[in-house]
Amino acid sequence: MSNSINYDDLIKIYTRVFKGVKEYTGYEYRLDHGFRVFKYCKHFCEMDFLKNKNVNKDALLIAALFHDIGKIHKVNDMKFMGGYDDEKFKHDEVGEKIVADYLGKYVGNSELIKKISRIIGGHHGNNLTEFESYVIWDADRLDNSGIMLLIRLIAFNEHKERNLEGMFEYWNKKGRPNAISQLNEYHFEEIGLLAESRFNKLDKLMKSLYIECQAGDI
Ligand SMILES: [Fe+2]
Ligand SMILES: [Fe+2]
Repeated sequence: MSNSINYDDLIKIYTRVFKGVKEYTGYEYRLDHGFRVFKYCKHFCEMDFLKNKNVNKDALLIAALFHDIGKIHKVNDMKFMGGYDDEKFKHDEVGEKIVADYLGKYVGNSELIKKISRIIGGHHGNNLTEFESYVIWDADRLDNSGIMLLIRLIAFNEHKERNLEGMFEYWNKKGRPNAISQLNEYHFEEIGLLAESRFNKLDKLMKSLYIECQAGDI
């Protein structure tokens, strides 16, 4: 990480953007998700699979923190982020366009800002030009593969006004098969293995939770 970039400042800016924002997956989910993807990427930079690759570490880490910045356009006056991406709105595309507005004062190098913008534009596989987009793409998926997914599941279940039985039904019919098929979609084997180990912990936890709910452990 370069000394010319003050990461504390960037974290403050990102915090200001998503502080107090609620979404279906929980209160300040986006804020914490950005921090986690940033931390994952920081660890990946020290791991063998990235260590010797030609990675622009600052571009990767700043893009990781701000990767979902485009979603800010979906936040309403009540600080609620609703709606999903569709034909007219793609948060990766929007993020690519607007991230410079947040970084300009803190990242002096305009080439670096352009690269960060392109990485964000490619973090879901559209307009892919930068290697770093693949790392964020995987880090993003990893965040949705383990016990963290249960937190999302519980928050989303509340939104849908489903009871626990409904949550298990959703998990077995949709959530679990989706999570399993995503395990084959990683670009980096090392991240895929981490995701698999996270998923196995979640799967075990869900089974134990179901047994408790049925009083099956007594
Ligand atoms: Fe995203
Ligand atoms: Fe994300």
